[in-house]
Amino acid sequence: MAFRSLATATRSSLRIGLIPADGIGREVIPAARRTLEALGSDLPKLEFHDLLAGFDLFTKTGAALPNETIDIEGGCDAALFGAVSSPSRKVAGYSSPIVALRKELDLYANIRPVVSVEKPSVDLVVVRENTECLYVKQETLTHTDSGREARATRLITERASRRIGTMAFELALARPRKQVTIIHKSNVLSVTDGLFRETVRAVPRLPGVSGRFDSVAIAEQIVDSAVYRLFREPEIYDVMVAPNLYGDILSDAAAALVGSLGLVPSVNAGDSFVMGEPVHGSAPDIEGQGIANPLAAIRSAALMLRHLKYEDAADRIDTAVNHVIREGRVLTPDLGGKSKTDEVVEAVLRRL
Ligand code: NAI
Ligand code: MG
Repeated sequence: MAFRSLATATRSSLRIGLIPADGIGREVIPAARRTLEALGSDLPKLEFHDLLAGFDLFTKTGAALPNETIDIEGGCDAALFGAVSSPSRKVAGYSSPIVALRKELDLYANIRPVVSVEKPSVDLVVVRENTECLYVKQETLTHTDSGREARATRLITERASRRIGTMAFELALARPRKQVTIIHKSNVLSVTDGLFRETVRAVPRLPGVSGRFDSVAIAEQIVDSAVYRLFREPEIYDVMVAPNLYGDILSDAAAALVGSLGLVPSVNAGDSFVMGEPVHGSAPDIEGQGIANPLAAIRSAALMLRHLKYEDAADRIDTAVNHVIREGRVLTPDLGGKSKTDEVVEAVLRRL
């Protein structure tokens, strides 16, 4: 996959912020680091910065995302984020550091390729808008005569829809099938999803685009039937572009098609910064057992490199990971194997 040029691969060193955060983030980010270190002369000298964030940090210090983390990360060339254990209830003073980081660094796109190694029928990428929709987190609770009433604001802007749409068309242009499917629910939410749909559809006709996307086919699908078709005939999709919440749900659903959330990588991308992040969460059910699948985090490191234009290094990682999956001898339990995280990392390193 090619990206719009973020930077050229001519640096003498590459500064990477590492934010393992919570749960298995602390197990899979070191795995990604080891893989990057093993690439040797394919990359400039690597400089890692260990950075703090997360719910555990919040419970200890009262801050989930210290200013220092934002400052240092902003000064790096790129970053890798693990996962955060956000509680399902409201906790006074706490707000998700990953949602905040995406906003602070204006990482407006979450790009999530989902590719099957064994059944070659799934090869799609979910392009999720990363800054608005219901994730603006403007929720209110009022007490009424008939009980409590909760409301949330859903923000969709033309600006954010246009730039995520442009990102989706650019990605599609670099892929063999060149198709963008707009995911929406504008049959019900005609104002918010209507604006998203209409704005993304209009991207090829923007001033300055002048025919650039003529070879890209545009399709659209209502989100609920998109999930149905994703399970029935995943091969029909190439690039799926969606508002924040639909994109989040669709990519977890698509992960089920390729075997495990532990395989699906992503990058949070803006015009001047990229942060790799496995799609999965902090997986408290398996935390600390040494059995977390490190492949999503390792693939996220590859995707980060691709974004920085280190295509050869990224290819080496992806080829090694695909080999390990196809071979099927060294796999973590989520893929039906018996191996530990470290053993999978070793298997990838042997194949690099
Ligand atoms: P989850 O993705 O953490 O786990 C879902 C299921 O998949 C679990 O059974 C887990 O064991 C399994 N799984 C996930 N990643 C795996 C891996 N690498 N290897 C093996 N198995 C894996 O989602 P869940 O359980 O809904 O959320 C747990 C916590 O993670 C919550 O606090 C949630 O807020 C947080 N979360 C954070 C995200 C982030 O940091 N971006 C994204 C999603 C959830
Ligand atoms: Mg998710």
